[in-house]
Amino acid sequence: MDHFEFRGGVLHAEDVPLPALADSVGTPAYVYSAATLRRHAQVVRATLADLDDPLVAFAVKANPNVAVLRLLATEGLGADVVSEGEMRRALAAGVPPSRIVFSGVGKTDAELAAALAEGIYQINVESESELRRLSRIAVATGIAAPVALRVNPDVDAGTLPKISTGKAENKFGIPLPRIPDLYAEAARLPGIRPVGIATHIGSQLLSLDPLEAAYRRLGALIAELRGRGLPVERADLGGGLGIPYDPSLPKPPEPAAWGAMVARVTAGWGVRLLFEPGRLIAGNAGLLLARVVTVKQGAAKRFVVLDAAMNDLIRPTLYGVYHDIRAVTPRDGCAVASVVGPVCETGDSFAEDRALSPLAEGDLVALMTAGAYGATMASTYNSRPLVPEVLVDGARFAVIRPRQTIDELIAADHVPDWLETP
Ligand code: LLP
Repeated sequence: MDHFEFRGGVLHAEDVPLPALADSVGTPAYVYSAATLRRHAQVVRATLADLDDPLVAFAVKANPNVAVLRLLATEGLGADVVSEGEMRRALAAGVPPSRIVFSGVGKTDAELAAALAEGIYQINVESESELRRLSRIAVATGIAAPVALRVNPDVDAGTLPKISTGKAENKFGIPLPRIPDLYAEAARLPGIRPVGIATHIGSQLLSLDPLEAAYRRLGALIAELRGRGLPVERADLGGGLGIPYDPSLPKPPEPAAWGAMVARVTAGWGVRLLFEPGRLIAGNAGLLLARVVTVKQGAAKRFVVLDAAMNDLIRPTLYGVYHDIRAVTPRDGCAVASVVGPVCETGDSFAEDRALSPLAEGDLVALMTAGAYGATMASTYNSRPLVPEVLVDGARFAVIRPRQTIDELIAADHVPDWLETP
């Protein structure tokens, strides 16, 4: 559920009409709904409320804006980070180190040292060599490392290949059969405190079955580790639950169904459970507001060209996925058009032959479900400045990241003295 709805024929973000917002901040712009973010955080926490003190660590990669992280921290969420940059953002937002988990397949020595120095809750180790490096760094710094081993359970998440992470051929985690020996080694290594195991099998999952299969493998693993006398205090079940993008398709499982499955499968594990949802919290809480620059009739198709492009929202180009597109002030009738951006690539397309309200130059459109993996994946390709992010809360809104200027874009480059002036 989100708080973007039509009132009097005009799409609103909570109580703010999007045309007013466009007049104020310009387009393109990412627009987030605080009420939706809060609601999703509360729904997820309520769903897991029967568990013993679960930690819900928002996957910062989905939406790393510090204002968003602060809002979610206020709702009791922690942070799942995959780089020093994400960790610094979480800390800057006020997420306590005791609620920060560091995942990632290629953490550098500097990142591991920084994580130890900040005293974060858990480091999810993804390889044997990372475990040994971390031991050396922990000994050198005198700070013990709370470690979970990330398990690759070899489960097919049934999602897009580019965002599947739990199959044997994926780069993520440690093969399950190797975990018991490595966990025993972790218990012996100086500076390492093994606290548990972790997994994350993929993103935008539309069925609970692969999640349940992965969780069950973790449950059996916990029993095996304990059978060897190894202590297991925590299990991190990752994120991955899908959200609706295309209103014409069946809805993904409800968070409550997922929560019930978690409770059923993990009953008796005797661990603290951690979760790393990203998309589920932020996806439907954001849209990309854009304006129609031009409408052109090609030889074969009618094109609606927006001022937003693949550099602002790359998901359709990168994964070929669907985002709902709404006219902010729809007209009667329907017209088929391909909705594209101005970037010089044919792949710069948001929708092919989509039936939409008839659009004309100057009209506003909203690319829905862009609150996760939207702004965070943006680039300045074609020297297009990064677009602003706006947080709406009831009738008020604030720019939580200003539009980058062309001067700022150019000033980031440095021309060496030894290049002659043309
Ligand atoms: N934990 C770990 C270790 C992850 O790698 C991810 C996502 C998450 C949690 C959060 O997953 P979520 O709950 O959001 O599904 N750019 C892609 C998605 C990449 C997801 C990467 N890892 C997209 O736009 O669909």
